[in-house]
Amino acid sequence: MDQPNDSVQTRVLGILSGKSVEDPFSVFAEARAQGSVLSIPHPMGSEDHQAWLVTQMDEALQVLKDKKGFTVDPSSIEAEGVRENMSGSVDDEAPDTFFTGKSMLFVNGFDHRRLRSLVSKAFTPKYMESLRPRVQEIADELLDNVEPYGEMDLVKDYAYPLPINVICEMLGVPEADRGRLQTWSSAIAKGLGWGRQDPAVAVHLEEFGNYVKQLVENKRQNPENDLISKLVTIEEEEDRLSESELISMITLLIFAGHETTSNLIATGAFELFDHPEELQALKNDLSLVPAAVEELLRFNGTSTSVGPRYATQDTEIAGQFIAKGDMVLVIVKSANRDEEKFTQAEDLEIQRDIDRHLAFGQGLHMCLGAPLARVEGDVAFSTLFRRMPHLQLKYPQDKIAWSFTLSSQGLESLPVTF
Ligand code: HEM
Repeated sequence: MDQPNDSVQTRVLGILSGKSVEDPFSVFAEARAQGSVLSIPHPMGSEDHQAWLVTQMDEALQVLKDKKGFTVDPSSIEAEGVRENMSGSVDDEAPDTFFTGKSMLFVNGFDHRRLRSLVSKAFTPKYMESLRPRVQEIADELLDNVEPYGEMDLVKDYAYPLPINVICEMLGVPEADRGRLQTWSSAIAKGLGWGRQDPAVAVHLEEFGNYVKQLVENKRQNPENDLISKLVTIEEEEDRLSESELISMITLLIFAGHETTSNLIATGAFELFDHPEELQALKNDLSLVPAAVEELLRFNGTSTSVGPRYATQDTEIAGQFIAKGDMVLVIVKSANRDEEKFTQAEDLEIQRDIDRHLAFGQGLHMCLGAPLARVEGDVAFSTLFRRMPHLQLKYPQDKIAWSFTLSSQGLESLPVTF
């Protein structure tokens, strides 16, 4: 457990690894007060290269928008001692996944453009809007199921099943299999963190990859009108996608497509309960929901940091020399509370006029699913507060169970009455 007299860098890393139970936002505020670029021990123990935390908005944008100066793929940098891969040990025979294989998250340049362009049409804001009626139906069905009981667990009954059912319908994952996907994804989200890979993660990744491999075979035999079948056709007909890239891509879309959005809905609801005046304002005028979703993303969006970036050349950030091959970790939850960019940055204000937040990242790797997450967030909160205007926490806040997930705190369960 980190001690209060540890350096602020150590305490930030404690949050990213799940070792700390401190309030992340007060630690991030202390980090910002110490500087926008802070040195940290290199996670791979590299003696040739340093690692850095970036805590503020301008510097975060400098890193994420500089597509020539920083890369997500350290093996593409010709520099001594740059580590080859972060994914830890998994069975060589096991199929690739978004974490162990070549997914768009971990490649740059031509390969990134090739992989992202294969699915980008399926995630345009226009196409996402066309899915809105179906998202609405799913949200209504979930609330219909619990309505007679007068209470529910907002995490298990609503926040989780809504996004997983949406992404699985898009991809063509059979309904009966969705529970298993949720088990694997959740175990992976809980088991990975800064310098942390719980032993069970490799097993879950392998099972997840094997499942998707089998699913791809089934779609090859019996294609349907879904995204996986379309990707299988691309893989078979042209030289644009290998089988291991296909499996990495599908596991990425499943994992990223629900774990993060579930967290937004659950944590977002909690933050609204924690700010009753904001919640009342929202209930009074549900047309504020899209703006509230942006503010909830800024205030406590799901991702604590984006993936590590590596300097492709010697550079400077806020006057700090960064050598070619150094690792830079942008703490987006900290940049989103940057007091130089947001007035009363530590307050939740659902009517705030937000110019920009980093909850979906920025630059080349900016979240592909942001338009989907926005539609889901909009439908989830509007439906919840329209149908259940008396919604409230069942137990006092200090009884609510938080646990380590996606490199920070997530909700295990959120019992509510309505
Ligand atoms: C509230 C919900 C979400 C949040 C907060 C979120 C956050 C992020 C962030 C921060 C990144 C950038 C990672 C980096 O730069 O290292 C990212 C990338 C990505 N997200 Fe999301 N995401 C969400 C929902 C979704 C959904 C619904 C999908 C749907 C499939 C999705 C798919 C992806 C993909 C494929 C990438 C990789 C993009 C690339 O590397 O070019 N995300 N997401």
